[in-house]
Amino acid sequence: MPVIAIIGGQWGDEGKGKVVDMLAEKAKMVIRFSGGDNAGHTVINPYGEFKLHLVPSGVFHPQTICIIGNGVAVNPAVLLEEIEQLQGIGVDTSRLFVSDRAHLIMPYHILLDALEEKQRGGKALGTTLKGVGPAFTDKVARRGIRAADLLDKEVLLARLRLVLEQKNTFLTRVHGAAPLSLEQVYSQYCQYGERLAHFIRETNSMVQETVEKGEMVLLEGAQGTMLDPDFGTYPYVTSSSPMVGGACVGSGLGPSKIDSIFGVFKAYSTRVGGGPMPTELEDETGELIRERAQEYGATTGRPRRCGWFDAVAARFSVQINGFTDIALTRLDILDILSSIKICVGYRLNGENIDYFPSSTAALEKCVPIYEELVGWQTPVDHIRSFEQLPPKAHRYVERLEELLSCPINLISVGSNREQAIIRPQATGLT
Ligand code: IMP
Repeated sequence: MPVIAIIGGQWGDEGKGKVVDMLAEKAKMVIRFSGGDNAGHTVINPYGEFKLHLVPSGVFHPQTICIIGNGVAVNPAVLLEEIEQLQGIGVDTSRLFVSDRAHLIMPYHILLDALEEKQRGGKALGTTLKGVGPAFTDKVARRGIRAADLLDKEVLLARLRLVLEQKNTFLTRVHGAAPLSLEQVYSQYCQYGERLAHFIRETNSMVQETVEKGEMVLLEGAQGTMLDPDFGTYPYVTSSSPMVGGACVGSGLGPSKIDSIFGVFKAYSTRVGGGPMPTELEDETGELIRERAQEYGATTGRPRRCGWFDAVAARFSVQINGFTDIALTRLDILDILSSIKICVGYRLNGENIDYFPSSTAALEKCVPIYEELVGWQTPVDHIRSFEQLPPKAHRYVERLEELLSCPINLISVGSNREQAIIRPQATGLT
């Protein structure tokens, strides 16, 4: 059985949660490998509708071990709340584990996220204000506090004393904010440690063993490639890698262990927060898509910016992740449109270009070049095989495959688990 990575191909919110929930039925393990509770994975299944922020979307399957990997920044309060919510509706959380290498989101991270956004003024990034950026900053600055530290109160105190002194200096002198109390933060995190103790462990041996045994393992991404700190629309990006490279680092599995890499793309584009989005529609079509698809942030409730499918950005995403397959989601949303556009190139400074510029300033100036296809204007939500799609929907999917040079082997046509088409050639699924 394969190891399959599920990666966001656009700006996040592509429907990775649904894809993982569907595939987790056969999986022995699901590992979340990056991001933090800035993510919101919507899952609709027989238990109801959930917005999971930290717990892997495989938790609803009774045989699936769920791991919050070392690459995730964990807010213990959010995790505890999510666990309680799941337990409250009878979901078994005894197979949920948190890597002891995962970094923690601390109260000063949340404060700093807001203070830094305020300081950016009109150039604010539009972060989710969950403290995720400052937590990853501390990870690389080597002043992070990790899940393992929660399990040893002496270590936690020593670490917190050192870090909080620096943080308080920064909070008070640079931002003019009030300092945080060592006693309060320490006692709060000791309590979290006690409550999370049986979830936190060294998870690497469990991961390697499962892969060695040939069991099916899913690597669950958060956010999307266009928000990657290296390849995304910097600085309007998140702060851990949502790409397949991030899946390796954030789970402890080497590239040779991954059998298939599914890039998840919506049949159109959305983005939430600041930064360029060449195909954004600030008109009634954009509004129609937003309302029909209820495109509002799962974490912050912010309206998502909606636009046509950007094949230039998507092709770039396919290349830099090496996707073996594409999962195309929300095709049903386009059912009502009489014409559908795909961005096949950009016009920049009077020239046509077909690559995704690295400069955000250049990207802001790009004007999309569109190809227009006739809409199918009939519902597809009941369709379960590729051949049964209306010919015009078929054509739309095939055109995307041609433009992206990657097979679209999974198509989601509704929010429920069973509303999907899986093609027989899907890598590792059939
Ligand atoms: P941060 O990750 O909270 O620091 O936010 C940085 C950027 O990433 C902002 O534009 C956010 O809106 C965006 N972002 C973070 N998480 C998600 C997500 O799960 N879906 C979509 N956008 C996200």
